[in-house]
Amino acid sequence: MIKRDAENKPKKIVTPVSPFSENDPTVAKLEVTLRPKKLSEYIGQKEAKKNLIVFIEATKKRKEPLEHILIHSPAGLGKTTLANIIANEIGVNIKTTSGPVLEKQGDLAALLTNLQEGDVLFIDEIHRLRPAVEEILYSAMEDFALDLMLGKGPSAKTMRLTLPKFTLIGATTKISMLSSPLRDRFGHNFKLNFYTVDEIKQIILRSAKILGCKVNDDAAEKLAKCSRQTPRIANRLLRRIRDFADYEGKTEVTYSLVESSLMALGVDALGLDETDRNLIRVVIEKFRGGPVGLNTLSAATSEEEATIEEVYEPFLMQLGFLERTPRGRIATENAYNHLGIKCLRTNENQTLSL
Ligand code: ADE
Repeated sequence: MIKRDAENKPKKIVTPVSPFSENDPTVAKLEVTLRPKKLSEYIGQKEAKKNLIVFIEATKKRKEPLEHILIHSPAGLGKTTLANIIANEIGVNIKTTSGPVLEKQGDLAALLTNLQEGDVLFIDEIHRLRPAVEEILYSAMEDFALDLMLGKGPSAKTMRLTLPKFTLIGATTKISMLSSPLRDRFGHNFKLNFYTVDEIKQIILRSAKILGCKVNDDAAEKLAKCSRQTPRIANRLLRRIRDFADYEGKTEVTYSLVESSLMALGVDALGLDETDRNLIRVVIEKFRGGPVGLNTLSAATSEEEATIEEVYEPFLMQLGFLERTPRGRIATENAYNHLGIKCLRTNENQTLSL
């Protein structure tokens, strides 16, 4: 994780290691196949979708590029999918990059100068942009101009390049890490929420159809309940269950197949895996339920701070198992109950486990 210091400089870059990201090219390709291409195919996020239809249609009528869009949500909720849909609905090209990949100003300049009028530039993990790169983005976003410094020292000159009018779509899991000058330059700001079980079930049934995999209604419901309200996880688990079905020579995914496959994968009834359970167990057993600081928790669990913060914590907080306080993370009574550990609260609101 980039921690910004008082001068907004990054301290270090650690890309979160997410078991939910699809780094394998074959898997990534499969994931892309499952992604909806049109807003009408996109399930959930009703509010965002309703407003997007208005903004897209209005700008199409005016024949203007869409204003810059910021999309924020925990990982796996469909930021990249939505960015691709937006470009597709407007009928323009999309160029995709991510914050940590843009190491130098020149990397961003090369992308910007190759855009065509109306194109979408998608920057994933925009909160990880280096300050020097972010700086040239300001005038690009505001004035569609690139201010480049040529040379160094007293003889240095600035050159202004005019850019085609484009739409920047920035995606972030950590909106609080965005500087306000950058945040202020977005005309639209969409927050994606965790999906309902019913929405995840619809996504599973849609994906199963694309994969040519027959899934029973109650099997889809069971899988939806264990998918952490996250489409990417639902699709990943569906592919794993398809493996179990193929291996066992089954032509249909049934409730009991979902149950046995999830058990084999170490996924429990709430969709938590071994790492989730270990995180809360460590907070409870090693730190008496907390509060425990993120860096201490990271050392105790051997998980990167960024991975805890961006991959595991959001859903544990959504479940109400973990709370963030100024003094650190606290495990709630619900977390104790889920692990079957008795929770005793002391006068100071500290918890003791039996
Ligand atoms: N696949 C992944 N996310 C989806 C969504 N929101 N709607 C339909 N299919 C999806």
